[in-house]
Amino acid sequence: MDLKHHCIKLNDGHFIPVLGFGTYAPEEVPKSKAEEATKLAIDAGFRHIDSAHLYENEKEIGQAIRSKIADGIVKREDIFYTSKLWLTFLRPELVQPALEKSLKKLQLDYVDLYIIHFPMALKPGEEMIPKDEHGKVIFDTVDLCATWEALEKCKDLGLTKSIGVSNFNRRQLEMILNKPGLKYKPVCNQVECHPYLKQSKLLDFCKSKDIVLVAYSALGSHREKKWVDQSSPVLLDDPVLSALAKKHKRTPALIALRYQLQRGVVVLVKSYNEKRIKENMQVFEFQLTSEDMKVLDGLNQNVRYNSVAFAADHPDYPFSEEY
Ligand SMILES: NC(=O)c1ccc[n+]([C@@H]2O[C@H](COP(=O)([O-])OP(=O)(O)OC[C@H]3O[C@@H](n4cnc5c(N)ncnc54)[C@H](OP(=O)(O)O)[C@@H]3O)[C@@H](O)[C@H]2O)c1
Repeated sequence: MDLKHHCIKLNDGHFIPVLGFGTYAPEEVPKSKAEEATKLAIDAGFRHIDSAHLYENEKEIGQAIRSKIADGIVKREDIFYTSKLWLTFLRPELVQPALEKSLKKLQLDYVDLYIIHFPMALKPGEEMIPKDEHGKVIFDTVDLCATWEALEKCKDLGLTKSIGVSNFNRRQLEMILNKPGLKYKPVCNQVECHPYLKQSKLLDFCKSKDIVLVAYSALGSHREKKWVDQSSPVLLDDPVLSALAKKHKRTPALIALRYQLQRGVVVLVKSYNEKRIKENMQVFEFQLTSEDMKVLDGLNQNVRYNSVAFAADHPDYPFSEEY
């Protein structure tokens, strides 16, 4: 990892900035906040922006990126933008139209990274999470290798620079890696990862295959009721994180972010608050010692904040678990 230039080389030759700006916010937060926050993040120095069809904010994120390009603050090639293929579009014939729909909302010609959001297909249609009359989620049966081939085509067409996956476990990654005729390997696997869920086995596996692990909920998530069990421990209140923050004259959030960078993990962080957006950029200004890293390694307790409860009936649930 070239921390000096804050980038890491992907297995397809493109570069990904090691710190990414997360843009998911709960439904009640006005979408205009996503635009405001993304502009603040670009001003603060973030160059990697993470969104998804699911977040319903791509129009606003696109506006933010294009306005910073128009102002001469950045060029398109300075920005690394990730979008995600939602689960109702996993049938191969729906992949390219789904990406084109995102591009239209963004008003961009290409995304830098397009990833399969979860290794699980839902019934195609207008509903984000289709349910039957009993409120049960309606899954779809799709061969993820065929979905992957459709992503490869999107890369060949230049609609995305790189392709990857999210919330895949080792078995699901191997299924793609062992696909006959594989043209491109996934460049990344984006999964929940923080000191309470280190994902060390998955990280070792990804490193062995030159796949970058991208950490989400690195601060212990937004703790939104819809996705997160409210009785789960609050990561940023952890006394070990607080002690290390005191030692380094930083904050627990910065310790949690720096921890990932020093493990060779690309880390996402969401904030819509100007002070915290700026604070999070300080992750490049200090270093943890190997002793600090060991102490942080000891915090693992397999706490998974994002329950993705709607998927609980799926045979592969929970996704990307330690194995
Ligand atoms: N692939 C997937 O399935 C998946 C799933 C979940 C998330 N993601 C991506 O990963 C991103 C990040 O994950 P996340 O949204 O779960 O949350 P996160 O980054 O772990 O944490 C966000 C929470 O921490 C607060 N925060 C940010 N900086 C802080 C600081 N310096 N000190 C104290 N608190 C701070 C934020 O509040 P304020 O806004 O008030 O600062 C927010 O409530 C998402 O936005 C999304 O882009 C992907």
